[in-house]
Amino acid sequence: MITVKDIHKSYTKDTETIKGVSFEIGKGTIFGLLGPNGAGKTTLMQIIATLMKPTSGTVEIAGMSPDKDLLKIHKLLGFLTTEIKLDPVSTPDRLFDFFAELYDIPKDEIKNRKEKAFARFGITPFAGRRISELSTGMKQKISIAISLLHEPPIIIFDEPTNGLDILTSRQVTDYLKELRNEGRCIILSTHIFSVAEELCDEVAVLVDGKIVAQGTVDELTALTGEKNFEDAFFKIYVENHKEDQ
Ligand SMILES: Nc1ncnc2c1ncn2[C@@H]1O[C@H](COP(=O)(O)OP(=O)(O)OP(=O)(O)O)[C@@H](O)[C@H]1O
Ligand SMILES: [Mg+2]
Repeated sequence: MITVKDIHKSYTKDTETIKGVSFEIGKGTIFGLLGPNGAGKTTLMQIIATLMKPTSGTVEIAGMSPDKDLLKIHKLLGFLTTEIKLDPVSTPDRLFDFFAELYDIPKDEIKNRKEKAFARFGITPFAGRRISELSTGMKQKISIAISLLHEPPIIIFDEPTNGLDILTSRQVTDYLKELRNEGRCIILSTHIFSVAEELCDEVAVLVDGKIVAQGTVDELTALTGEKNFEDAFFKIYVENHKEDQ
């Protein structure tokens, strides 16, 4: 569903943030991009979501190229980033309707989907409140509900559990597992090794803009000879990070 080939990205002339990244992700898979702060996760997620162009390399979504089929691709994608901010003076109710109308979802269906999503994430009692009055976790759950309202087969989530408490985080990870079991293709980024361990069918470790290890959590742990994934992740990081980069 997602094919990424030799992506490079430079924001400035003399630094390269993404240094040749390639991978493929199929249906019914949660693929995790695991890396420390500044590794290039958000940059890469924005390129895959076709919101930013790479300096070189290609992204293919469901066999389509963003150069030719951008609108078709956008209908297939659900994207969530740490940068997105909900309008503080709006309400969950109005925001959901607004985005649902952009996707041409019929009125009855909007009502159905909203009731289901709001009930699932405990948003219903807050549906008419101003966004500015809501907690971080509630805002994140609203962003997730809105990003998935058009039921996209491909989900690109940048740090979906960032800033969430254990309970809210669990709601989100359980939901992502359900979506994976329905056959969706999910790519998520995280700097938290336990999120990768709990959720991901395959993990790519991103250090300084390069994938330095890729496989299942068990494979990566075995590869390093460590007893658990936390130690494996540290070992992979230390072996591959260069201070001058
Ligand atoms: N718009 C930009 N212009 C210039 N440099 C940028 C820009 N966005 C990101 N960078 C740089 O690119 C590098 C990677 O940033 P990015 O946000 O992709 O990392 P990240 O892995 O998502 O980090 P974090 O875990 O902190 O979210 C950093 O050195 C950052 O300073
Ligand atoms: Mg980031």
